[in-house]
Amino acid sequence: MTSPLTSRFPYPAGSDGSRRLGYGADYNPEQWPREVWEEDVLLMREAGVNTVSLAIFSWARLQPDADSWDFGWLDEIMDLLHAGGIGVDLATATASPPPWLTAAHPEILPVTASGETLSPGARQHWRPTSPVFRTHALRLVRELATRYGNHPALVAWHVNNELGCHNVYDFSDDAARAFRGWLRTRYTTLDALNHAWGTAFWSQRYSDWEQILPPRLAASHPNPTQQLDFKRFSSDALKDHLRAERELLRELTPQTPVTTNFMVMPGTKGMDYADWADSGLVDFVANDHYVVPGPQDRDELSFSANLTSGIAGHRPWFLMEHSTSAVNWQPVNTPKRAGELAGDSLTHVAHGADAVCFFQWRQSAAGAEKYHSAMVPHAGRDSDLFRAVVELGATLDALAPIAGSVREQARVAILFDWDSRWASEQDSHPTSLLDYHQEALDWYSALLALGIRCDVVTRHAGDLSAYDVVIAPVLHVVPAALAKDLTRYAEGGGHLVTTYFSGVVDENDHIWLGGYPGAVRDLLGIRIEEFGPLPDGESVALDDGTSGTLWSDRITRTGPDVEVLARYSTGLYADLPAVTRRTTGSGSASYVSTRLGAEGLTALLPKLLAPAEVVSELPASARGLVETVVRRDDTHRYLFLINRSEAPVGLPELSGDVLTGSAPTVAPGSVTVLRQPLH
Ligand code: GAL
Repeated sequence: MTSPLTSRFPYPAGSDGSRRLGYGADYNPEQWPREVWEEDVLLMREAGVNTVSLAIFSWARLQPDADSWDFGWLDEIMDLLHAGGIGVDLATATASPPPWLTAAHPEILPVTASGETLSPGARQHWRPTSPVFRTHALRLVRELATRYGNHPALVAWHVNNELGCHNVYDFSDDAARAFRGWLRTRYTTLDALNHAWGTAFWSQRYSDWEQILPPRLAASHPNPTQQLDFKRFSSDALKDHLRAERELLRELTPQTPVTTNFMVMPGTKGMDYADWADSGLVDFVANDHYVVPGPQDRDELSFSANLTSGIAGHRPWFLMEHSTSAVNWQPVNTPKRAGELAGDSLTHVAHGADAVCFFQWRQSAAGAEKYHSAMVPHAGRDSDLFRAVVELGATLDALAPIAGSVREQARVAILFDWDSRWASEQDSHPTSLLDYHQEALDWYSALLALGIRCDVVTRHAGDLSAYDVVIAPVLHVVPAALAKDLTRYAEGGGHLVTTYFSGVVDENDHIWLGGYPGAVRDLLGIRIEEFGPLPDGESVALDDGTSGTLWSDRITRTGPDVEVLARYSTGLYADLPAVTRRTTGSGSASYVSTRLGAEGLTALLPKLLAPAEVVSELPASARGLVETVVRRDDTHRYLFLINRSEAPVGLPELSGDVLTGSAPTVAPGSVTVLRQPLH
């Protein structure tokens, strides 16, 4: 299936009318007195800012009470920005309901699994399924669209903000009602639901739809399929809100593209963005990303940007938020090091971001985010941070030629799947330590260490056969149709690699019987009777020198066409296979039964990639030190060289015009972009 995204990307125009990359921030002028606004526009021009997101948290200012509106200030700021040549991604302002609304209608407040109603006083305190909230939100959207639909500063609509950031799981009565409706559509009959949920277990059989509830706090583990369906439903409920705002905007201002900012990053699990994008609800994908410092933080940024590109169908996407320096919401909020602001930004650009924006323009003087960095810090214009912001503006200007180019497809893909992510991490499993995202990231880190480009794709991405190698870590949920697709892929010459706890259940979270991994047992040519999860801190050695944690399997080979690539040398399954490969015609299907971590996978991967003859395109001296990403248009390839190391890396072999950075030596932590003609 190909994504129906139309990619009506709001490119700013240069003075000669050519496309530029977007650059800017969330802009919250309502936090500042009028006299600051003009200085803001002057500083934005100095920094090269051409796009801002406006009015995201302005509901209380725009609608001071149920029956009055105050648009004067927004009229003025829209005009000021337009006069300054700055386009506006105008928010629908529905993210944070004002106190008058929650006081009059406390029934819009979300309820936790244990029945506590969340109070107003922060933000996003609304139930995705509340009809009362929906009515008030759409009324605001209508007012804004009618008033600003033809304003010359308007370049895009920004629906709500980070839908689901704080309110994805709501267990209220509204949610219960909507969940029942969603289940009726999915299952049609109660019999089908009872079967799917396996309600013969623990006397859970439903005899009336009204008996069904969200998985609220219960005496023991709630029904797993109920939990999985509630996750699917909760993602859909927010998608439904997005659809409602979008449809109204589309009706009133059909000429203006609509987006909403996704949060493709490790901690955000609740929203299936691949599905949202595939539903055609955004005209271009926008993403927010924040780095959480840690040993794999550079790799994680690249992984998230790469996955965002996958979600966007490899079309250009919009980096709506990241930080210039420290955030305010970690236990310790360290500043970015010199060069990181640019390095982070350009890594997103490498992976397809055609706009780079920050949270936020001017650092707040009050409120919960006053210690969160911004483009204009508390110290003001005379600061290293603002100088770095101005410098990045100039760099993005120099990169204008890449606007509209798309990522060149890699030969290797990592498949990322929300259903498997949700289902594999549920309770009552062989282990509670499994981390779906971490496993996927480890494979990505290993590919980076080997200098091999890869695409992170989702099941909505279209035909897997475009890739020579598909790595599907912890592909836990495998419906029959997917099992067929994977088999066809491998039999058609593709090389599939999968891991522990893959192919175990169907879409209802029912075990594929007859020995694990039932859905792909024949394809892999193995059979597992029992899992051997490893306690925290325990590991098993493999005879190739690597070691595994988290998981092990007692594998029996079921055919002569299955070779053993590595065996356990210690633990319960010593001498038995740990990594296998079955040859299927011109393709193959490999299985890795333990968690090897990034280092172990780096050692193993060359063996797994060998049948596809995938090797690094980089000279040996640069592998692991430089990440390469390629974008291209009809006339050129744009080679991004991201130096991930602490030392300069020389790449004299590579040719091309230098659009930014330094060549042939790429400075530590920096990014060089070379333009190479295609013909
Ligand atoms: C995002 C949000 C912004 C701001 C930012 C701080 O989640 O959209 O409004 O709160 O985080 O990092």
